[in-house]
Amino acid sequence: MILTIETSCDDTSVALVNPKDGELLDVLSVSQLIHSDYGGVVPELASRKHFSNIMPLLKTILKNNNLELDNISYIAVTYTPGLLGSLLVGVTAAKSLAFSLGVPLIPVHHMEGHLMSVFIENSVPEFPFMSLVISGGHTFITIIKDFHKYEIIGETLDDSAGEAFDKTARVLGLPYPGGPHIEKEALKAFENADIPEFPKPMSKSGDLNFSFSGLKTAVKIYRKKNPEVVPAIIAKGFQEAVASLLQIKLNKALLKYKVKFLTITGGVAANKFICDKLKNELNCNILIPSKKYCTDNAGMIGKAAYYRLKNNFNVLKDKKYFSLNPIASMRINEEKQF
Ligand code: KG4
Ligand code: ZN
Repeated sequence: MILTIETSCDDTSVALVNPKDGELLDVLSVSQLIHSDYGGVVPELASRKHFSNIMPLLKTILKNNNLELDNISYIAVTYTPGLLGSLLVGVTAAKSLAFSLGVPLIPVHHMEGHLMSVFIENSVPEFPFMSLVISGGHTFITIIKDFHKYEIIGETLDDSAGEAFDKTARVLGLPYPGGPHIEKEALKAFENADIPEFPKPMSKSGDLNFSFSGLKTAVKIYRKKNPEVVPAIIAKGFQEAVASLLQIKLNKALLKYKVKFLTITGGVAANKFICDKLKNELNCNILIPSKKYCTDNAGMIGKAAYYRLKNNFNVLKDKKYFSLNPIASMRINEEKQF
């Protein structure tokens, strides 16, 4: 069994994955609600919560599956990118467990977790295929040439798509994390309502890069100028602008890179309006994980660990993991073999 730990941001999560076939057997997560009081993640509070959550979660997932520590043959953990203090809790727990059990440790790149999350429920298409990751910390399009081989063909130059949702939610007086609240609010807009058309920054830039900070500012200015317009109408206009931006760039990418499959992952992929628009308007086979696997979870990290094990990529044996430290920031295409 691969026992997996994910603590990169504000969700403490553990999972069990079968090392023989990569099946996800169980995943258990605790979301840290405390951050909504502050309108965003407070790093020190996140680390403290991970610290108190991690051992009870590990004990519970083993108990729920009638397993003992002796049944664990690998430990996997997210080691980059993320909040350093949060990663440190997971990595320290993982190193201690691997050492005491005498089993290999598989460090996993969080973004590879998102990229592999779609294969919890779908089989891997033929390489190369295209992936869009739209999370709270990252937004990029990559060509996946093989396992662990990524070419980034477009990325955000400022805010991520998730950040745009979170910041826009704050402008509209909606709680953190903003994405699910904006999605819910937009559904309240009347059928024939006059929806504002917000700008789509960089949609005509000719490249595959994104910019979301201008969109957030446009919403802010609109809100100030039109205080009588209800949040539902603005939320709908904002969501439509994000969906159109993604559609325009992906369409361009698909014309340039003639792949048969596109995967869409990360927290914002939980948005039904965005997914429906992309599925309806793009000429490609599109795979999107179920909602529960879009946002951070240890299941996706366990799935990525399974592919690392299968391809013998960064499986640390013989206590080689002593030198493993969390890394706050690392692009997915910069990861090296240890
Ligand atoms: O992937 P994720 O859980 O964490 C990171 O790795 O960053 O993504 C979190 C982001 C947040 O910004 C949150 O607002 C957004 O995903 N999100 C959504 C939805 N659910 C979560 N955005 C739009 N619509 C949603 N339904
Ligand atoms: Zn994430």
